[in-house]
Order: sequence, then C-alpha cells, then structure tokens
Amino acid sequence: MLAPEARGHGLGTQATRLTLDYAFHITNLRMVWLKVLAPNTAGIWAYEKAGFRTAGDLREAGYWLGQTCDEVIMDAVAGEFEGPSVVKPLLTS
Ligand SMILES: CC(C)(COP(=O)(O)OP(=O)(O)OC[C@H]1O[C@@H](n2cnc3c(N)ncnc32)[C@H](O)[C@@H]1OP(=O)(O)O)[C@@H](O)C(=O)NCCC(=O)NCCS
Repeated sequence: MLAPEARGHGLGTQATRLTLDYAFHITNLRMVWLKVLAPNTAGIWAYEKAGFRTAGDLREAGYWLGQTCDEVIMDAVAGEFEGPSVVKPLLTS
C-alpha cells in the first residue's frame, strides 16, 4: 500500500515489476498470481503494465466501500515477462 500522495506516479507498476523480476530470475518461479478487487482500477492497471493478465473473476467475493464486488484473479508467467529486468544483467556479468 502506497501513501495517497505517492500514488499515480508509476511506483506501483515499478514495485510490481521488480517483484516479478525477483520471482522469475532469483527464485525461479514459473508463475505468480494475485487477487485484486475489481473496482481497484489503479491496481489492475499497474499489475497489467507490470506483466500480469486477467485470468478470471471470483464473483461477489469482495467488498469495496461497503458494496459487494467481484475479485479479479491475475497471473503472470516467466516466459511472457517483458521486463525491463534489473536482475538479469547482474546474473550475466
Ligand atoms: C494499487 C497501488 C499500489 C498502485 O500504485 P500506483 O503507484 O498508484 O500505480 P501506478 O502509478 O504505477 O499505475 C496506476 C495506473 O492507474 C492509473 N490510476 C491511478 N489511480 C486511478 C484511478 N483512481 N482510476 C483509474 N486509474 C487510475 C494511473 O494513472 C496509472 O496509469 P498510467 O500509468 O497510464 O497513468 C496504489 O494505488 C495503492 O497503494 N493503492 C491503495 C492500496 C491498494 O489498493 N493496494 C493493492 C491491493 S490488491
């Protein structure tokens, strides 16, 4: 969670991309998945830009501002990670 004044400057995208970079190139995971509340547009957009794709919806699984909402399942696989990677250059040097 970023402080409200820190949101919307690309930090969420960058942090998510670094997480995938670590997952795929340090821990060698094949895939990573997450759940996000469907109305969380900023989150979903940041995760998509970092390399996640929507895998499906869990209908009426969550609450957003007191209202029932869907949860979105998103996944990312190592073979589709476009980076940029800060880890790979360190491994090859
Ligand atoms: C979700 C979160 C981590 C995203 O981080 P961020 O730094 O704000 O996201 P980014 O700036 O990297 O990207 C968000 C994108 O959504 C857009 N966006 C931001 N707020 C938006 C909103 N309320 N509605 C629509 N789009 C929005 C931004 O413009 C940006 O798109 P762009 O690069 O095309 O301009 C951050 O907003 C946050 O901490 N939210 C509260 C906690 C939370 O929801 N955590 C995630 C739980 S799964």
